[in-house]
Amino acid sequence: MNDDVVVIGGGVIGCSIAWHLTKKGFRVTVLEQDRIGAHASSAAAGMLGAQVEMAYPGPMVDLCLASRAMFPAMREQLLAETGLDIELNRAGLLRLADTEEEASLLQERARWQQQLGERAEWLEKRELKDLEPSLSEELSGGLFLPGDSQVSALRLVRALAQAARLGGAQLVEGAKVNSIRVEGGRVVSLDTAAGIYRPDQVVAAAGSLNGLLVRMAGGALPVFPVKGESFALQPRKPLFTRTLFGPNCYLVPKADGQVIVGATEKRDMDPGVTLGAVHSLVRAAVKLVPELEEGEWLRAWSGFRPATPDGLPYLGAMSSPGNLYVAGGHFRNGILLSAVTGKSMADLIAGESVPMLEPFAPDRPVSSA
Ligand code: GLY
Repeated sequence: MNDDVVVIGGGVIGCSIAWHLTKKGFRVTVLEQDRIGAHASSAAAGMLGAQVEMAYPGPMVDLCLASRAMFPAMREQLLAETGLDIELNRAGLLRLADTEEEASLLQERARWQQQLGERAEWLEKRELKDLEPSLSEELSGGLFLPGDSQVSALRLVRALAQAARLGGAQLVEGAKVNSIRVEGGRVVSLDTAAGIYRPDQVVAAAGSLNGLLVRMAGGALPVFPVKGESFALQPRKPLFTRTLFGPNCYLVPKADGQVIVGATEKRDMDPGVTLGAVHSLVRAAVKLVPELEEGEWLRAWSGFRPATPDGLPYLGAMSSPGNLYVAGGHFRNGILLSAVTGKSMADLIAGESVPMLEPFAPDRPVSSA
């Protein structure tokens, strides 16, 4: 066994892989250029939207469903190992429509999701109000997805990092990778702000920075950042228990009573939050739940989702260098896919065959979705 593995990237993906690798007996180092979970992982609202985010069936839906199914056991395991609760909320999710056109699109989604054996129930306006009385009268209906759930993204990344640490992984912060040395078709060393590392295997799990890392190793991996802006507010009283996913925003009720309102999608590299973004999210949020207008403003933030041209993540080994693996490009689904990514990448690195990952090979030919 090639025992020493360096995972580059200390977000949910890198920490989950590290945790699973420690369970297999690898010596693991996580190199994080900033602080653990400082970027996309902590900007996320924490939805486990295996159904809500998917427009058509295929390998991505299968991967998302497999990952979502892992969360209840993972919550128990992380709690037992670290004492940290990831606050898994299994009340389900409502995908709301405000036009007839949107309603028929969602009803079509319900059909293929039901054929996959998932619960997806179309609710008329009145049934919606019975389930969540604070919803606006203006909606035309909605799809109830009882299986979609949510967690605290921040607690998830902390718990995964702590579980990896307790399993023996070294988590090194401030360890920006400056260059990657490749000899004889293999990565031989990493020159970083925290020193030189000479691992047997390397995993690039650095979100939007994976393209740069693979370039340093002489390869190519198209990844681009898509900015998302969000804000949090404190309603005067609890208004809803399910995650509400509307046409132009989603509202995620967290365990502490706060509601996260997200998120824009922009090709903009500026990390600031614009007034325009807040304005459009506020408008969309109040259209779904008018009483949110009375909520207390808390804070706003942004993050960068790692996107790929065909909309699928990269999960697997590069053909060259032979000891370089990639786990990234999860776009809107990093929190959701952290469970299956950690487990399946660790299996792959341990030499097991993981057929589910084949459609996500990092050096597949990619074209725009
Ligand atoms: N998964 C929600 C988002 O990326 O905004």
